Amino acid sequence: MNSVSIKVPASTSNLGSGFDTLGLAVKLYNVIRVERIAASRIEFDWELPADDRRWFCEALGAASKIFFRSAKVKSFGVRVGLKADVPMARGLGASATIRVGFIAALNELAGTQLSRAALLELATELEGHPDNASPAIFGGFTVSGRIGKSVRCLSVPVSSKLRCVTLIPKFGISTEVARKLLPAKYSKADAAHALNRAALITAAFASRRYEMLRGLFDDRVHQPYREKLLPQLSRVIAAGERAGALGGFLSGSGSSIMCLTIDKPLAVARAMHKALPDSAVTILTPDVKGFQVLPTK
Ligand code: HSE
Repeated sequence: MNSVSIKVPASTSNLGSGFDTLGLAVKLYNVIRVERIAASRIEFDWELPADDRRWFCEALGAASKIFFRSAKVKSFGVRVGLKADVPMARGLGASATIRVGFIAALNELAGTQLSRAALLELATELEGHPDNASPAIFGGFTVSGRIGKSVRCLSVPVSSKLRCVTLIPKFGISTEVARKLLPAKYSKADAAHALNRAALITAAFASRRYEMLRGLFDDRVHQPYREKLLPQLSRVIAAGERAGALGGFLSGSGSSIMCLTIDKPLAVARAMHKALPDSAVTILTPDVKGFQVLPTK
């Protein structure tokens, strides 16, 4: 096989207080095409603006290094193409889709048959946290974390009735900047509050009792500190909840804001958009497959 395309779902992460732990895959995709070439370098199929070029070169360079080191096969050069529907720096796991898609493609081209769990180990090393890589790989609602030296992930399927109403602002937020805003320590009360919410959210998804999500997204771990990058956050969530959403939260480290609902997607979308008109709002459904290797044409 000389070329392969991998379709990878976008994802939201954190879901309130499940910081670096909870994730949910959605049906919005990046498709990455990787072709083996004779030269031992990474080439791109499209013109990259200077800033993006640096990110792509570094991200794919590191991914290639880690993949060949851990798969223990001789490295080869590739040409990469991308059909991108997932916006960058919007808290929708775009960087994870690209890293996951790339290493999954190398796995196909090298014939190494690394498992999805093994690919998650690599993607987590590259991302620094597993909460977007897990849904990108396994689909569904995911709970993951580092346990000792490895990464453990459990994924549960999510009802196709759930709607993820996603407000995407015109501006992006850098995860690096957003992480620097967080305190080094939390009070016992805030830690207990977060444990309580993360466990209840997980139980609600695992038992498919989505009505039980109401009131569980009142986070104290990261949202209050990141609100200075997105002052409209509380207003947009409150508007979505007033329109009937089960709850809303900052998607990953932002800038998107997501509200979950079963029966009121249009009303929730309208209300969120009214609270921040300078944005796009899209209604997404859960992806339960994770990345897919597309048949070669
Ligand atoms: N859990 C990460 C964070 C997600 O909130 O920083 C980054 O998209």
